[in-house]
This record gives sequence, structure tokens and C-alpha cells, in this order.
Amino acid sequence: IKIAVLLSGGGTNLQSLIDAIELGKIPGQISVIISNKKEAFGLKRGEKHGIETMVLDKNTYGCKEKRDKVLVETLLEKKIDLIVLAGYLAILSSNVIEKYKNRIINIHPSLIPSFCGDGYYGEKVHQAVLQRGVKVTGATVHFVNEITDGGPIILQETVAVAIDDDVKTLQEKVLEIEHKILPLAVKLFAEDRLEVVENRVKIH
Ligand code: GRF
Repeated sequence: IKIAVLLSGGGTNLQSLIDAIELGKIPGQISVIISNKKEAFGLKRGEKHGIETMVLDKNTYGCKEKRDKVLVETLLEKKIDLIVLAGYLAILSSNVIEKYKNRIINIHPSLIPSFCGDGYYGEKVHQAVLQRGVKVTGATVHFVNEITDGGPIILQETVAVAIDDDVKTLQEKVLEIEHKILPLAVKLFAEDRLEVVENRVKIH
């Protein structure tokens, strides 16, 4: 399958996908890496592996809608089968979500539905986890629908929150899980083993 990865930051999740593909674990290839930030280090990671990269910054296109129109055109022209959001901090417009129903996967650094939705991204998630004093957190891979972080959940994995954890140590623990479950979810999708039944995902 042909994969497009959208990101805005460092791209360690992208790196975990690149590594899994290069180890032959996923029957697919990353055709393009698209960022809304020209300085995203994830773009450099892709370039190092000879993967095409693009910057679609809403300022260049004047507004989100125009940018997303170019995004959809690019995805369709490249015959992309799966979009992976790996730390993509722009909200996808509804026409992208409609065209790619149950073919957009997102990774979120908490156990959805906890600590997700508007305002919960990056370190803010781990801050909220520490503030609430939960004993377990983790990561979630889910399909993207029009509700932010509201789509069918594909995989989740937990990690214990230690009393001496801070945002940095917690983020590190959760990222380790993200780097496991994201490639696994993409592999399952590529092997056509995911079936969405109402808002639940069956793994065959
Ligand atoms: C990860 O924590 C991911 O869960 C969230 O954004 C972060 C991306 O990190 N969506 P990286 O750019 O993949 O290192």
C-alpha cells in the first residue's frame, strides 16, 4: 500500500514507521511526507531515506481550505491508500476525512477518551496526566473521523505513571509505546486485517 505521513514536529513516530518498513515488517511504502511546518525535523528524516517531502503551509495558500484542497489533490494524484498523522498539529478539513474514511490513522499520547480533544496535544497531555494523578497512562492509535480524537480505536497500550515521573520522563515512556503500536496498526491495515464495526475495530 502507498502511505502518506503528515507531521508537524520531530518525527520519531515517522522514524518508527520508516524502520519497520525497511525491516520488511510492513507491506507498504511511504510515498510522501507532508508537513505544515517547513522547519519540521521529520522532513529531514524522510529526506535521509530518499522519501519525497512536501510543505503545505496554510500561509502559502492563504487559508486552511485552499491548503487542504491541494492536500487532497496531492493524495489522490499519488494514489495514497493510507494517511498517517504522526504528530500533525493542523485539523484536517472534512473533505479530506470524507474522501479517506477509515483510511486515516492518528497516534495520540494518552488512553483515549482520557486527556484528548481540543487543547490536549504534545506535552499538554502529559501535564494533564500528572495533574490528575492517574496511575496508568499510555497511547492510542485510532482512525480519524470528524470528531477530534473521536474515531474508532485500533490499538492501545498502557504504561504505569511513577510518583517521580515528570512530563519529560512520562513523554519518553509513552513515545516508546507509540513507536510500537503505530507501526503495528499500519501493518494490520496494510494486511487488510482491520474491520470497523460501528465505532469498534475488529482485528482479523
Ligand atoms: C507524539 O507524542 C504523538 O503522540 C503526538 O505528537 C507527538 C509526535 O511526536 N501526536 P514525533 O514528532 O513523532 O516525535
